[in-house]
Order: sequence, then C-alpha cells, then structure tokens
Amino acid sequence: MRLAATALVVGVAAMGCARGAPPAGGEAPVLVQIPLRVPPRTPEQVRQDRRSGIGRLTVPGLDESAGNRAALGRRIFFSPDFGAGGSAACTRCHNADHAGAGGLQSLAGAETLAVPPIVNLSAYESFGTDGRSHKLVEYMASHLAQLNAGIEEKDRDAALETAYGPALRGLFPFAEGDTAPALTAMVSRSLAAYLGTLVTASPIDGFLAGNDGAISPQAGRGFDLFFEKGCVSCHDGPVFGGRKMATLGLSMPWPGDVPLGEHAEYKQRRQRRVSSLRTVALTAPYFHESAIDTLPAAVELMALHQLGVTLAADERDAIVAFLQSMVGTPPPSFHAP
Ligand code: HEC
Ligand code: HEC
Repeated sequence: MRLAATALVVGVAAMGCARGAPPAGGEAPVLVQIPLRVPPRTPEQVRQDRRSGIGRLTVPGLDESAGNRAALGRRIFFSPDFGAGGSAACTRCHNADHAGAGGLQSLAGAETLAVPPIVNLSAYESFGTDGRSHKLVEYMASHLAQLNAGIEEKDRDAALETAYGPALRGLFPFAEGDTAPALTAMVSRSLAAYLGTLVTASPIDGFLAGNDGAISPQAGRGFDLFFEKGCVSCHDGPVFGGRKMATLGLSMPWPGDVPLGEHAEYKQRRQRRVSSLRTVALTAPYFHESAIDTLPAAVELMALHQLGVTLAADERDAIVAFLQSMVGTPPPSFHAP
C-alpha cells in the first residue's frame, strides 16, 4: 500500500496531567505524524486521470463573419495561382491526403524542412516547427512573407488585388477615416480562420471520452505505455504535441549528431517544436529532416534518444497501434471547393 497522506495529530507530552489543568512545567504539545493508508488507485482510475490530463479536441464554433472568412480562406488555400505567379499556392507543398504534410522544402531564410501537417491547429499553442509564433494568424503572416520572398511587393499586391481585393474588403470592414488593413493581413486572417476549422475526429476521441472499447486493447495498452515511458512529458494536450519546445537528442545524440554537451548555443539549435501525433500515421517520412521512413522506427528512435529507453517489440507495437488509432478523417472542407 502506498502512503498517500499523512495525518497530523497533536499529542500532549506531559502524560497524566489532570484535564483542564495546565501541563506541569508548561511543556509544549508535540506533533506526532501518523501515516494514513489509502487504497491504491485502480488501473481504471489511473487511466481516467490520464484522459482528463490530455483534454478533448473540440471543433471551434464560428459565427457568421468568421465562417465567411474561413470560406474565403478555403478558396485561397486551394487556388493554384495564389501569390504572384503561384509562389504561395498552399497545395504546392501541403498535401490534403497526408493531413497537409509533405516532403522536404526550402523556404526563404530557413533550413530545408519537412512540410508539417496542418490539421487540428486549433489545439496548438506553438506554430512553426521552430515554435516562432503563439498565434496561428501571426505565423501565417510570417509564412506568407517567406513564401513571397523574392517577389516585388507591388507585384504581390497587384495579384492579390485582382484575385481577392473586393472579397477581402467586404469581409474586413473598417471605419471611415481608419486605414484599411493590408491585403496580406486580411489574407492571413482568412487562412487562419479556415485552417482552424480543420479538425480530424478519430476513434481516440471516443476513448478519451471514457469508452475503452473505442480503440483496440493493444492501442489502449499503447496509450498507457505512452504515459509510463514518459512520451507524454513532451507530447501533451489533445493532439499529443503542438505545444512545447524540446531538445532533440536529450538522452543520446540524435543520429549523425555530436553529443549535446553543455554548450547552450548548440542546445538551442537542437530545439524543435514537439510534433502533434494526431495524424502521424499519415505523415511518413518522419522528423524535420524526413529522415526516418516508418512509424515503428520513429517510435524506437524517440524512446532511445529522448528518454534513454529501449522498447520491447510488443511495447513498440502497442504504441504504434495507439498512434494509428488517432488517425481521423479531415472534414470535407479539406478538399478543393
Ligand atoms: C514551398 C512550400 C510551401 C508552401 C507553398 C506553403 N507551405 Fe506551409 N509550410 C511549409 C514548410 C516547409 C513548413 C514548416 C516551416 C516551419 O517550420 O517554419 C510549413 C508550415 C506551415 C504551417 C505551420 C504548421 C505547424 O506545424 O505549426 C502552416 C499553418 C502552413 N504551413 C500553412 C500554409 C498555407 C495556408 C499555405 C498557403 C498560403 C502554405 N502553408 C504554403 C511549406 C510550404
Ligand atoms: C523530450 C521531449 C520528447 C519526448 C520525451 C518524446 N518526444 Fe517525440 N518528438 C519530440 C520532438 C521535439 C519532435 C519533433 C522532432 C523533429 O521535428 O524533428 C518529436 C517527434 C516525434 C515523432 C515524429 C513526428 C513526425 O511527424 O515527424 C514521433 C512519431 C514521436 N515524436 C513519438 C514519440 C514517442 C512514441 C515518444 C515516447 C517513446 C516520444 N515521442 C517522446 C520530443 C519528444
């Protein structure tokens, strides 16, 4: 039995003193600690605590004007010629069949990076794989600047004006005398409104709501292992990631890398935003370098290099089954209008 609480009992040191009479010699009462024995939590209760800690993935409600902006954002997202000369056409890199993920791409001012998934962003707290924004709309503005780098501002604005100028100004009215928001700012807000609606409900949601039978027993064991091994210390929240930054290679240097050592600047460079695992079964190859081809290999690598744990084959397979139980169908709006 676990000792979960301690009772504090006030005793009186001087024994035998008469009730009501002051203790002889004025001795102070002493504190005696008596351990309380409480029944251990059952596996069901432990699982319930884990579920509550993770929280639920919810679909954000949109009022009419947000709904209209999201609809325009969707049109822009699927437009093959968005940005001057199609420079920013989202579907050039973000593939709807893979939850938006894709292969390596170079963006202006950044290293070559795997294209991350772009669903369930409403549950993220950190955007960009370098975690540079805490708001999706801010990230979109900076992403658009990257995508349009090398294009003259006036060419970019002329292309936006022709394609979306009137529609955008209709959705973002501004008071007379105020300066109109820049077209790119309105585009960022429309795209962010649209992306925020892309939520992939999946069997794991039934499980998180309390129904053990919603996923297989093997996947349920994987859920428990995900906590017991420590994965959840980084991959937390309703999408099992998308919130924190972490150093890659905490327990063992990342493959092909040198030991982290104590060099602060180097550690800083190995900081990455923790990936969401909601759609991970659809987004191979893995990691920001697209270096690992299969999910079992990615899980083994994480356990070893982040936690210093070698997983048994059945543990690895259970975690993979759990990750697969999270794949859900994106809403129909994740296809061209
Ligand atoms: C040239 C390829 C390319 C194009 C075109 C592109 N993206 Fe990206 N996108 C990327 C890459 C690479 C990243 C990861 C960059 C990073 O980590 O900062 C990314 C990241 C993102 C993210 C952040 C996801 C996260 O995990 O935080 C969002 C959202 C996004 N893109 C949306 C869009 C939208 C909307 C468009 C169209 C306007 C678009 N992208 C066009 C390559 C592209
Ligand atoms: C110390 C923090 C930390 C721990 C612990 C951790 N991860 Fe990760 N995980 C990360 C980071 C950071 C990334 C993003 C790496 C990158 O961008 O290259 C990631 C990426 C992943 C990916 C690849 C996602 C993708 O789309 O490429 C998988 C799969 C994964 N983790 C599974 C796990 C599992 C399973 C465990 C437990 C055995 C675990 N992680 C433990 C920080 C962690």
